[in-house]
Amino acid sequence: MGEYEEGKLERPKWVGETPLSRLVQALISFKPLFSVLKLGSRRALISTAEKNNIPWRQMAKEILESEVYRELDNIQNQSLVYPDYYLNPFHAYDEGNLTWLAAAEAEAATMSIARRAVPDASSTQEAIKILRGNWLRAIEQHHIQYSESFVINDILDIGCSIGISTRYLADKYPTAKVTGLDLSPYFLAVAQHKEKSAPPRKFPIRWIHANGEDTGLPSKSFNLVSIAFVFHECPTRVIVNIVREAFRLLRPGGTLALIDSSMKSKVVQELSPVLFTLYKCTEPFIDEFYLTDMDETLREAGFVNITSILTSPRHATITATAPQ
Ligand SMILES: C[S@@+](CC[C@H](N)C(=O)[O-])C[C@H]1O[C@@H](n2cnc3c(N)ncnc32)[C@H](O)[C@@H]1O
Repeated sequence: MGEYEEGKLERPKWVGETPLSRLVQALISFKPLFSVLKLGSRRALISTAEKNNIPWRQMAKEILESEVYRELDNIQNQSLVYPDYYLNPFHAYDEGNLTWLAAAEAEAATMSIARRAVPDASSTQEAIKILRGNWLRAIEQHHIQYSESFVINDILDIGCSIGISTRYLADKYPTAKVTGLDLSPYFLAVAQHKEKSAPPRKFPIRWIHANGEDTGLPSKSFNLVSIAFVFHECPTRVIVNIVREAFRLLRPGGTLALIDSSMKSKVVQELSPVLFTLYKCTEPFIDEFYLTDMDETLREAGFVNITSILTSPRHATITATAPQ
């Protein structure tokens, strides 16, 4: 961990107000071209995954033909008002994260991200192990260094999606009470459905359908808040709101752990023009994300001990402490 290479730039050339970025923006603002690119991007994702032995369509089919639909009523908060940004198309799904198809394909998509992030790994499983293992180790090291006297016993995973990050946290800290929170009831339904076939836990994972900007959960009720692969999907104002909410939710001495794509990564800075055009087509807020100064956002919210480390060739884990 930590041996991954940084690029020479502050951020990739295709971010913000550069000629290259303006050209890509103009191309994808042209609706007919955007639709073609979006479709192309989806096809490329599925075929690359299947070439890497990730049975994308089979995995999605199994979910879509399962009893997952039963979980929706228990999970969905009917009075939740979705923030505007969330109603954008994401990841080439016109309804973004608010569909069964997106929820059914999320596990294969997550596996593909790990495979792409760690291309030197001997298999997809190995890539996943490296990506998630380095992230968990960064959290553990931060906790040992700054808050060792506190036991991690209440964990919140904001933007838990179908619960993959949540389950890693619950497995790592088996005596903790773990909560996964997300804006998509479809993703949460898959999370709950999958958890039903997992070995029983001391405390079952609690799934909450809510907005991470304003969770409605009591202040100072967690000692670890994780936000994994969420911020690249959010405008800057939402990132700021979620960080402030995490600060409110953490007990003094508690740890915040973020992981996401890193603008410092050499691989990200050197993405080919075709790849970053496809990337921008499926990630509407990627520019805002890369232009957000994360350290400053954490400092302004009140966090201390802010530490950033590349935990994969493409991703940084940022950890911080709520002061005591
Ligand atoms: C890429 S997924 C996260 C993956 C997951 N944490 C993991 O590591 O496997 C991003 C998630 O963030 C969620 N999300 C985006 N904005 C959110 C918000 N304001 N509040 C809660 N969840 C949000 C999306 O619904 C989506 O499930």
